[in-house]
Amino acid sequence: MRIGLAYDLKDKVPEPQGKLEDALEEYDSLETVDAIARAIEDQNHSVVKLGGGREFLCNVLEQRVDLVFNIAEGLGNYRSREAQVPSVLEMLGVPYSGSDPLCLALSLEKPLTKSLMSIAGVATPRWRVVRDIRELKEADWGDFPLPAFVKPAHEGSSKGIRVASRLESAEQIAEAVNRLLEYYHQPVMVEEFIDGEETTVGVVGNSPPVVVGIMRVIPRKKVDYFVYSLEMKRDWEALLTYECPAQLGRDVLHGIADSSLRAFEALGCRDLARMDFRIGKDGTPYFLEVNPLPGLNPRSGDLPIMAGKVGWSYETLITTILSAAQQRYGGTSREQDRHRLQPASPLQL
Ligand SMILES: Nc1ncnc2c1ncn2[C@@H]1O[C@H](COP(=O)(O)OP(=O)(O)OP(=O)(O)O)[C@@H](O)[C@H]1O
Ligand SMILES: [Mg+2]
Repeated sequence: MRIGLAYDLKDKVPEPQGKLEDALEEYDSLETVDAIARAIEDQNHSVVKLGGGREFLCNVLEQRVDLVFNIAEGLGNYRSREAQVPSVLEMLGVPYSGSDPLCLALSLEKPLTKSLMSIAGVATPRWRVVRDIRELKEADWGDFPLPAFVKPAHEGSSKGIRVASRLESAEQIAEAVNRLLEYYHQPVMVEEFIDGEETTVGVVGNSPPVVVGIMRVIPRKKVDYFVYSLEMKRDWEALLTYECPAQLGRDVLHGIADSSLRAFEALGCRDLARMDFRIGKDGTPYFLEVNPLPGLNPRSGDLPIMAGKVGWSYETLITTILSAAQQRYGGTSREQDRHRLQPASPLQL
C-alpha cells in the first residue's frame, strides 16, 4: 500500500507571536517522522511524506495514497486544530489512522471532556473554567478545594504547566489565571490538585480496544509534591523513572484500566490514545486528560516507552496502530491478522 504521513514539524510551523517559550512544544521532529516511516516501510508499504499545513494540502491532492498515518497536530491556537487534517481527509474520502475530527477537537477541550467523563462515570478532579478577565474579577474561590492546579483549557504537551501551577490560596489562583489568560489567549481551567501517584495509560485498537500498559511516572528526587510538568518532560532521562507495569495495587490497576477503556469508548477514540490519571489517597483513579494523538517519538514518547517496557518493539506499536486503522476500513490482509489484538489480562498490566 501507499501510506501517506501527515505531520507538523517543529521547525516548519510558523512561530506564533508573543514569544511563549513552549509555543511549539506539541509539534514533531523529523526523528519521529523518520522512525514511523521506517516502521511502515518494514511492512513492505511505500511511504509518502505529506507534511502539514499548505504543504499537506498540495501533497494530498497530488499524491494518490491508500491511507494516511496521521500525527498532525494542526495549526494555530484553535481548540479544534487537531481536527484539521482528518477533516480534509474525510472531505476527500481518504482513509486515515486515529480518531475522527469530533473526538480530536473534543479531547483538546479539557473542560468539555471532563463533563463527558463525569457522565460516563469516570472520576475526574473538581474544576472550574475562567473564560476571561471579567469572569476572573467576579470569581469567588471561597469554596474551591485547595491546593488547586491551573492550566490552559485547550493545550497539551504540558504547555502552560509548571511545578508552580499548584496553588495554595485564592490570591495565588487569581494571579496564575490572570497570567495564563494573558499568555495563552484561551480559557483557563482551575482543578482540584490530586496529590497522589501519576500514571499514564496506553490504549490501542478497536472493538475491543486493548490497554497496552499502565505506566507510573516517578520523580527520581524526593519532592514535596510531584507535577509531570514541562520541566520534567524536557529532562525526563535525568529527573524521572518510568515504571511499567506500574507497581500499584490490583484494585487500583483494575480501576485505571476500566476508566481508560470507558474514556476511550465514551469519547469515540480510535486506533490509539494515551490517558493520564492521578491516583487519590483512597485509590480512586482521577482522569486528567486524554491524548488521541499521543507523542510517538521513539525515544521520548510516553506510549513508545510504555510499549517497549511491555515487550513491544517500536515497529510492533506502529504496525498495530496502522493495522487497527486498516481493519476499520475493511482490510483483511494476513499481515493485519498477525497484528490482531488480544485483550490483555488485567494481571499483565
Ligand atoms: N488536577 C491535577 N492534580 C494534580 N496534578 C495535575 C492535575 N492536573 C494536571 N496535573 C499535573 O500536570 C501534568 C500535565 O497535565 P495535563 O496532562 O492536563 O497536561 P497536558 O499538557 O495535556 O499533558 P500531555 O503532555 O500529556 O499532553 C499531569 O500529568 C499532572 O502531573
Ligand atoms: Mg497529560
